[in-house]
Amino acid sequence: MKFFVDTAEIDAIAELNDLGMVDGVTTNPSLILKSGRDILEVTKEICDLVDGPVSAEVVALESDAMIEEGRKLAKIADNVTIKLPLTWDGLKACKVLSGEGNMINVTLCFSANQALLAAKAGATFISPFIGRLDDINLDGMDLIEDIRTIYDNYGFETEILAASIRSVNHVQQCALVGADVITAPPEVIKKLATHPLTQAGLDQFMKDWAKTGQSIV
Ligand code: G3P
Repeated sequence: MKFFVDTAEIDAIAELNDLGMVDGVTTNPSLILKSGRDILEVTKEICDLVDGPVSAEVVALESDAMIEEGRKLAKIADNVTIKLPLTWDGLKACKVLSGEGNMINVTLCFSANQALLAAKAGATFISPFIGRLDDINLDGMDLIEDIRTIYDNYGFETEILAASIRSVNHVQQCALVGADVITAPPEVIKKLATHPLTQAGLDQFMKDWAKTGQSIV
């Protein structure tokens, strides 16, 4: 399973990238706002840092304007993935821009039928939002499973990019049901390394080591 980082914060991306944990990056208008950066500049910086796909989202709502914005974003670097919303206009833009050879991430997916349409329109990635479904008392993971089944039934190559990941449990469940990619905030990815028994064991080892009076170097 590939790990994308869901942020536009360069330092956080760089830290995880140095560890080989970053297969790609996703951004959206809210994350650009949070970063305080210019979208074109920060996307270029991320693309220079990371080898994998870097999603940059259009903000137009009508397909011709989405296509124009998408073409501009795609010129930033070869690894830009144009992010389009899952609307009828977004699907039209997906068809055109994927036909021109661009990677496309269709975002704000909340149903299996929407995911089916995105695959048929040539999306490289579909982004179902798990956390936001959980927020309204639905089960986001059911959606990931349904899309997995449908894509496998028909051999669609669109990758399932599980988004709106809020917890380490989401990551594990996505891996178990066969999501191709997860995109998660840096804090969630770092939290995957922690376990209270690891910490307790380490504390005990350190106490006992101190009693030996030895040093290794
Ligand atoms: O990748 C989409 C993600 O940023 C949305 O996450 O937590 O705002 O639902 P969240």
